Amino acid sequence: MRVLHVAAEVFPWVKTGGLADVVGALPQAQVLTGVDSRLLVPGFPAVLDALQGARAICELGGMFGAGRITLRVGELPGSGVTAYVIDAPLLYGRAGNPYLGPDGHEWSDNLQRFALLGWVGAHLAAGELDLSWMPQILHAHDWHAGMACAYLASQPANAARSVFTVHNLAYQGLFDASDFPLLGLPGRFMSSNGLEFHGQLSFIKAGLVYAQRITTVSPTYAREIALEEFGCGLEGLLRARGSDVSGILNGVDGAVWDPRTDAAIVANYSPQALGAKSRCKAALQAALGLPVDAHAPLFVAVSRLTSQKGLDLVLSALPELLAHGAQLAVQGSGDAALERALLAAAAQHPHRVAVRLGYDEASAHQMVAGSDAMLVPSRFEPCGLTQLYALRYGSVPVVRRVGGLADTVVDLDQGAASTGVVFDDATGAAMAHAITRAVTVYRDTDAWRQLMLRGMRQDFSWLPPAQQYLALYQGMAAPPGA
Ligand code: ADP
Ligand code: GLC
Repeated sequence: MRVLHVAAEVFPWVKTGGLADVVGALPQAQVLTGVDSRLLVPGFPAVLDALQGARAICELGGMFGAGRITLRVGELPGSGVTAYVIDAPLLYGRAGNPYLGPDGHEWSDNLQRFALLGWVGAHLAAGELDLSWMPQILHAHDWHAGMACAYLASQPANAARSVFTVHNLAYQGLFDASDFPLLGLPGRFMSSNGLEFHGQLSFIKAGLVYAQRITTVSPTYAREIALEEFGCGLEGLLRARGSDVSGILNGVDGAVWDPRTDAAIVANYSPQALGAKSRCKAALQAALGLPVDAHAPLFVAVSRLTSQKGLDLVLSALPELLAHGAQLAVQGSGDAALERALLAAAAQHPHRVAVRLGYDEASAHQMVAGSDAMLVPSRFEPCGLTQLYALRYGSVPVVRRVGGLADTVVDLDQGAASTGVVFDDATGAAMAHAITRAVTVYRDTDAWRQLMLRGMRQDFSWLPPAQQYLALYQGMAAPPGA
């Protein structure tokens, strides 16, 4: 089976969130199961710098205002995965966030930048750009890669079949409808059954309409997005595609997230040798300027600061958290008002609350390893990876019963099967009650230890999802002539 993943991010070179973690791990896991899985990503500077043994396989020119475009192929170090990289300096030669400029606004040429990604994906999938390799499946991720499915559908004899994975329906890649001619597609693509979305042009619809199969990153989110509450206006389309939509839970990359081997933390530990975790906690408290206190429950959140993630609920519940003698640490970046509110809480309670703004991979590992519990009170959560990392690191997840959080954390009320605390309402009161329940167990040292160990023993490796994707690909009827 030959598969081409098309995506904008890949860990560790380009990452704004969990998409990068998935794209960094899934193709590797597929290669290990015998799938010839390759990757197509834009030539952001960090990716081009990393590409090993790169060779140019074709030159493209004059498209999407990109000037010179060279398609390169090589291997991303340590991955064993062949990567195609679009070297188009005018469109991708910008360091930093892949979608936003230094002013925090979307790049004005994002339509061209991600149309080119889709165009190259579709033409690779049609066997036109690499004459020595042609995938059977084009697997596009999120709106950035959605156009690959539309361009593939515009080919007269589209050889590959396409899968579109929704990592987050809230980000849709909306552009001005008047820019449609820039895409070079037949007019029929700009209809309400195509790319048009309430008078705009939608790249996520390119994936949702033209892919043969749609997946999301958890079974619960796959059901939720058919509902108005979670569908972001696309629920009707998703309901119409009903049987083509399924959910496959993400995994954890054990080469990156494993407390036994993690080089970013001060001491390594395992379920069999848990003692060293307390050194991680003490080091984290010290680094954050919090009192080094083994008995104070330390709650953390590692998160993008957007309304999705519900960190405002944590602030609402702060009085109760503090009343329990607990500490709070947040590593995050995003919404300016939320950043200010978190900093204000830290300034008001310097010995109890610590906030690290910005994106810092090593700090994220230290937070997960050093914490007693991880707060993930999301309003919606397609899968969520931080609660999976927390489980693996013996940090008890406290999560809302939504999306992938509902699929991966088992509440205390399930007794000997429980792995965390799960709450229902997106309110400060419900968050506070969940924190109280966590602290109550924390004060029972033995019960807490059992809870941690059950979490650590959960298996969220990439092997089962890799096998489920393979079964999905195999179940897709081969196109004529393939
Ligand atoms: P999402 O993709 O919606 O942001 P996930 O839980 O799937 O949520 O993935 C988030 C990923 O980003 C995790 O790898 C997490 O550790 C990382 N992350 C989020 N915020 C930060 C940050 N401020 N610094 C470092 N890593 C972060
Ligand atoms: C998205 C979602 C998150 C998911 C990640 C990887 O960013 O918000 O829930 O875990 O993609 O699939």
